[in-house]
Amino acid sequence: MTETVVYPQDRTCPYQPAPEYLSLVEQRPLAQVTLYDGRRVWAITGRDVARRLLIDPRISSDRTNPQWPAMFPSIAAAVRDARQKVLKIVTALVGVDGAVHNARRKMLIPSFTLRRINALRPKIQEIVDRQLDLMIENGAPTDLIPAFAAPVPVTVLYHLMGIPDDDHDFFEKQSYQFISGSNADAAYDELMTYMSKLIEEKRRNPGDKVLDDLLAERGATGDVGDVDAEELVSTLVLQVAGGHGTTGTMVSLSAFTLLQNPERLAELRADPSLMPTAVDELLRLLSIPDGLQRLAVDDIEIEGTTIRKGDGVFFITSLINRDEDVHGAPNSLDWHHNSVRDHVSFGFGAHQCLGQNLARVTMEIALSTLFQRLPGLRLAAPAEEIPFNPTAGFQVLNELPVTW
Ligand code: HEM
Repeated sequence: MTETVVYPQDRTCPYQPAPEYLSLVEQRPLAQVTLYDGRRVWAITGRDVARRLLIDPRISSDRTNPQWPAMFPSIAAAVRDARQKVLKIVTALVGVDGAVHNARRKMLIPSFTLRRINALRPKIQEIVDRQLDLMIENGAPTDLIPAFAAPVPVTVLYHLMGIPDDDHDFFEKQSYQFISGSNADAAYDELMTYMSKLIEEKRRNPGDKVLDDLLAERGATGDVGDVDAEELVSTLVLQVAGGHGTTGTMVSLSAFTLLQNPERLAELRADPSLMPTAVDELLRLLSIPDGLQRLAVDDIEIEGTTIRKGDGVFFITSLINRDEDVHGAPNSLDWHHNSVRDHVSFGFGAHQCLGQNLARVTMEIALSTLFQRLPGLRLAAPAEEIPFNPTAGFQVLNELPVTW
């Protein structure tokens, strides 16, 4: 058996792929890698093959399949143990296939259209301004993550969903406890009681948020009396899970990357209309969810290779997004190439990120406002000392000390 790269590998720079993946680049578009438990799985690294496989019905997302490939022992344990309830809810959309997935996703699509999200722009701007006022008032230096990057997307998300402002802290605390598995049962009961009350309130005073859409949708199908708190909690918690760390991480890691690339930042300051393009280019280069997971449920012939039924398949986002056949200079930021949107940082196919319009607009407003209002923004510690979580799968900065 030839020696294969162990997957996943840690990054040594928060916005570049792990150096050990170099040999995988040489084998593009796909190679075999080994998981922590010795299991051999496929690593997809080429853009065309990735797209073909991600829309192939023989590639499953069903995390309850006993052959599901776990990236880490903790994931394997979570699938087996008492946290099943958490896993079931958190993966209620991303972890199911076919008709069940379509039906669940269809219910949510109207709440996330570009038109709906664009209508939210003034509210998002207000949330960003308020958070930045607070950060400036509290003074420099500060950690940009708790002061700005993390709370902005969470507040925006709760607003969109229809959780009243005064309840954000409660919802945040309980859903975090539920998702992280610490005290999950108690948190779940709290959320359920809360949601039953909110449903009653929404029935008396309907609004125009995701929660109202879901209630109206069930009303239209004739079983409004049966709308249960459990279903709504599941739907909302899975959005919190999807949107929770992701957008905030993109805001902080983008700010860090831009401060490391002053020429690119100067271009954005000189021409703010470049920001929407910059958001996608940053999503491409940073590739924060670095490793989409799937299982082959039938044999698949691709590029002269056979992926066998039961094989694990991992999509290495950071390498797919740097495919030289698609991007001219794949390792650097460039606002002007025309393949900027050609990335898989939001996935591809049936499970493509439901919150992508929201994430893009939130990032655009947060980053534009941050750099416009604080022209002197800079790191308050040497870049090499900024702590980050190197673990592949999901990239995060642990702190981002800044001053202005
Ligand atoms: C920059 C921020 C974000 C990134 C990078 C991101 C990334 C992703 C990726 C890669 C997937 C596909 C996973 C797969 O195919 O296995 C996904 C799915 C999903 N995302 Fe996001 N996401 C972001 C923000 C959000 C937000 C704000 C929300 C909340 C509204 C959200 C909700 C979801 C949901 C519900 C799914 C599952 C969709 C499905 O399976 O049909 N995401 N996201």
